[in-house]
Amino acid sequence: MKKTMGIVVLAAGEGKRFKAPTPKPLAPLCGRRMVDFPLSESLSFAEKASLQTFCTVVTGHERERVEAYLRERYNKQINFTFQKEQKGTADALKSYFESHGSGQKTDLTLVLCADTPLIRRRHLSALYQALADGDHDGVVAAFRTSNPQGYGRITSGQGPGFSIVEEDEASDEIRKITLVNSGLYLFKTSFLLEHLEEIGSGAKDEFYLTKIFQDHLKLKAVLFPDAHSFMGVNTLRQLGAASHEIRREINQRHLENGVLIVDERHTSIDWEVSIGENSVIHPHNFIYGRTKIGRSVHIGPNCTIEECDIRDHASIKGHCHLEKASIAPGAAIGPFAHLRPESHIGEGSKIGNFVEIKKAVLHRGVKVSHLSYVGDAEIGEESNIGCGFITCNYDGTLKHKTTIGKRAFIGSDTQTVAPVSIGDDAYIASGSTINRDVPKEAFAVARSRQVTKEGMAKRFKKKKTEDV
Ligand code: UD1
Ligand code: MG
Repeated sequence: MKKTMGIVVLAAGEGKRFKAPTPKPLAPLCGRRMVDFPLSESLSFAEKASLQTFCTVVTGHERERVEAYLRERYNKQINFTFQKEQKGTADALKSYFESHGSGQKTDLTLVLCADTPLIRRRHLSALYQALADGDHDGVVAAFRTSNPQGYGRITSGQGPGFSIVEEDEASDEIRKITLVNSGLYLFKTSFLLEHLEEIGSGAKDEFYLTKIFQDHLKLKAVLFPDAHSFMGVNTLRQLGAASHEIRREINQRHLENGVLIVDERHTSIDWEVSIGENSVIHPHNFIYGRTKIGRSVHIGPNCTIEECDIRDHASIKGHCHLEKASIAPGAAIGPFAHLRPESHIGEGSKIGNFVEIKKAVLHRGVKVSHLSYVGDAEIGEESNIGCGFITCNYDGTLKHKTTIGKRAFIGSDTQTVAPVSIGDDAYIASGSTINRDVPKEAFAVARSRQVTKEGMAKRFKKKKTEDV
């Protein structure tokens, strides 16, 4: 039979040191929320280790917001425990056992804090192995740091075990200890059920889980050398430091997978972005959300790319702003292009400089090379749109659609006053304002006729000099 493990993520605390409008577990971090890291890493570890899990998040402060987010993202994968008053980490764990009989029946209980976003599956595996290898009732991940402030200090006493002393209860001598508690623990569930009740309240009238560690008990501190992975995030400053670490990790992952990140110190890619091999990312790019980038895609410098789908061999030149757009294979965008939501750029199409596209489908091989606005439109394959084209889509109240067929030629400085449609193979003369449909293969010109008066320029020039 599979071993059972309860995963408990503690996320009820008020986070007094965290001066932000978002509750700490929902702090944005590389395109995710902070609590996503301990949750997803522990779920993935349990799956890899073939453990049957019962996963719970303990909520309290701003409970509704935290639960609404998690419910939407994880659906039925997780349960909740409501800790009515935030009376400490031991009290949070007690609330969990009281509200979930299934938690009491598990073999093991993995406890993680919502504010340690750098812990990874490999650390959980190592901790699990340490418990399996020894004769202990529980293990805690420990690390050394030159700045132990805020962490529980690990002190050894007379017995075989050790204790953990929190900052606010530590003497000056103990505060100097650099071996600290990460807040990541794995216990035999029966041990927790037996000893949780024994924990008394601490300095701030809180029940500290760390008080379960006592000299005479069979508990072990497992020392991990990569201290930075265990950083706790209690302040915005620490959130910034965690974000920096995770960005580095993301860039390393892409480099290892064959993506050339030209200057990884100046490239910001969110956790859930995927990038195919042989793609090149130049410096000062910000790639957000769940953007997908295919193979051999070239992204020039200084682009912002948010929730986009960019297919193989596409090229994004510098200084583009792309948002919720899809770009088919081999398309070329920019420099200085702005693709707004619901823009679909067809295979091999070309969007040039100072072009804005919004809610528009451009089929294969369309060219909009310079200084244009295309909004609420559909353009058929191989059509060529000249410089300075504008879809006049808004009448002050409603938006209207422009439809252009296949292989149409739209001369420069043309406006289409929507709703309007231009047929396949039509030709629109430059400088036209098109407000009536143009059938296929037709030629349309809609501009005032030119008047030329021989020799008259002289008069105008003369007049101008007299005026001065
Ligand atoms: C905690 C540990 C400390 C460790 C550090 C590692 C305790 C008492 N201290 O300190 O030894 O070195 O983490 O980062 O455990 N929470 C609840 N309910 C509560 C209080 C807290 O769910 O009543 C949750 C918080 O939301 C947070 C986690 O528990 O996710 C840890 O609480 P926090 O206040 O951040 O503890 P630290 O002071 O960081
Ligand atoms: Mg903390």
